[in-house]
Order: sequence, then C-alpha cells, then structure tokens
Amino acid sequence: MKSEARYPSHIAVIMDGNGRWAKKRHMPRSVGHMEGVKTIDRIADAVFSRGIGYLTLFAFSTENWGRPASEVSGLLGLFKKYLKKNIPVLIGKNICLNILGDVSAFDEETLELVNEAYEKTHGLGGGVLNICFNYGGRAELVRAVNSLSGKTGITERDLSDALYTRGMPDPDIVIRTGGEHRISNFLLYQSAYSEIYFVDTLWPDFSGDELDKIIADYSATDRRFGKISE
Ligand code: IPE
Ligand code: IPE
Ligand code: MG
Repeated sequence: MKSEARYPSHIAVIMDGNGRWAKKRHMPRSVGHMEGVKTIDRIADAVFSRGIGYLTLFAFSTENWGRPASEVSGLLGLFKKYLKKNIPVLIGKNICLNILGDVSAFDEETLELVNEAYEKTHGLGGGVLNICFNYGGRAELVRAVNSLSGKTGITERDLSDALYTRGMPDPDIVIRTGGEHRISNFLLYQSAYSEIYFVDTLWPDFSGDELDKIIADYSATDRRFGKISE
C-alpha cells in the first residue's frame, strides 16, 4: 500500500570491498580494513542523524575464518580496538551497541568488551547499532532451531524471537557495497522482504550522499509484500 511509511526504520549493510580498495592503491588489505572502520563511523552518524533507528553492519562472517591467519588476526584486533574506542563514544551519542554472532569464539578481553557494550548501552534511545561479527545467517538459524527444540507449534514469531535480532524490525533496506550480487549468508531470515541494493562503490568510499540516494530510491519504491498496488 502506498500509504505505508516510506522512510526506512532499519538499514543493513554488507560492508564489502576493503581489500580491493587497498589493492587499487598498492597497499596491504589491512589498510583497506582500517579505512573501512572510518566509513562505519561516518555512515552510523549519517543513519542516526536521519532519524533511522537501526543500523546493522556485517563485519566478519562465519566463513571469514577461512582467510589467511594474519588477516583474521588483523580483523579481530581491529574489532577489539573499535569496541574500546567506541563504547564511550556511542554512550555519548545515546546509541545502543549490540554485537550479533557467535561470541564464544572471542578472546576474554573481546568478550568483556562485548559485555561492557551491552551493559553500558542497552536501552539507550538514540538508535541501535548492530555489528555482526562471527555472524552467519545459517548458523543463526541453526542456533534458533536448537533453542526451540522440544517446542511444538512453532510460529514465525517464535523463530524470529530466537534470532539475534529479537525484537527489532526486519531491515527495510539491505545494501551490499563492492559490486558483488550476493547475500553471502547475511540476515537470511530477516531480509525476506528487504529492498536490496548492490552498489559498485567499495566500502571505504561509501558516503552519506550515496546513502541518501538509496533512501530516496527506497522511498519511491512500491513495496507490495506479495499483494498488488492500489
Ligand atoms: C571487507 O571487505 C569485508 C570483510 C569480510 C572484512 P573484504 O575484505 O571482503 O574486501 P574485498 O571483497 O576482498 O575487496
Ligand atoms: C561478506 O563479504 C562478509 C562481510 C562483509 C563481513 P565476503 O567478502 O566475505 O563475501 P564473499 O566471499 O565475496 O561472498
Ligand atoms: Mg569481500
């Protein structure tokens, strides 16, 4: 129905293209990842300043463990650094920070930071930033199914409540930067009716202007949810 709110409540992003961004500049992939972290700050500010309540970012997949050990440890190190620096910053901005994924793989210090983020930012009302780290859509569904085992008459609501995104609206928009046209195991259940935008821009180059163009396009889109236009 055209009368539906046309502004998104939840934007999710597959932040792809850091490695290629660095390669183009003859620099190590790690430099691309560092540059990508700066884009996170920029885009989070852009999203929340536009009054959009939820931003979910795919930072490290359950499959990314298969990269060279040096890149994996670099990404884990960047994640830890990001948390250390940004927990106080996000508290200052009244933003709630959630880490979605299998946190059991993290070292003790990272786990403490993840818990600290939850304890100190839980319930803050300026917006919700979800960082998906060691996240996989299939692993999330398997975890949910296991948590519901023994229960009968399971509903969509039950399954939805057993996901990491419990209580959050589904993403209205899923953006993938970096030019690939695939979902790569991201929010498999939640993206059932998301508007999906594949953009060629590499994540470190992604800007608030490009985000605005996507939001404008989304606002003009007829979301039918299987029905027909009026
Ligand atoms: C960042 O982009 C996403 C992560 C998995 C950390 P990539 O590291 O996949 O960059 P490309 O796709 O190789 O350019
Ligand atoms: C998707 O990017 C995962 C993240 C952005 C964290 P990948 O670079 O891992 O995906 P593929 O390998 O191109 O599918
Ligand atoms: Mg990639």
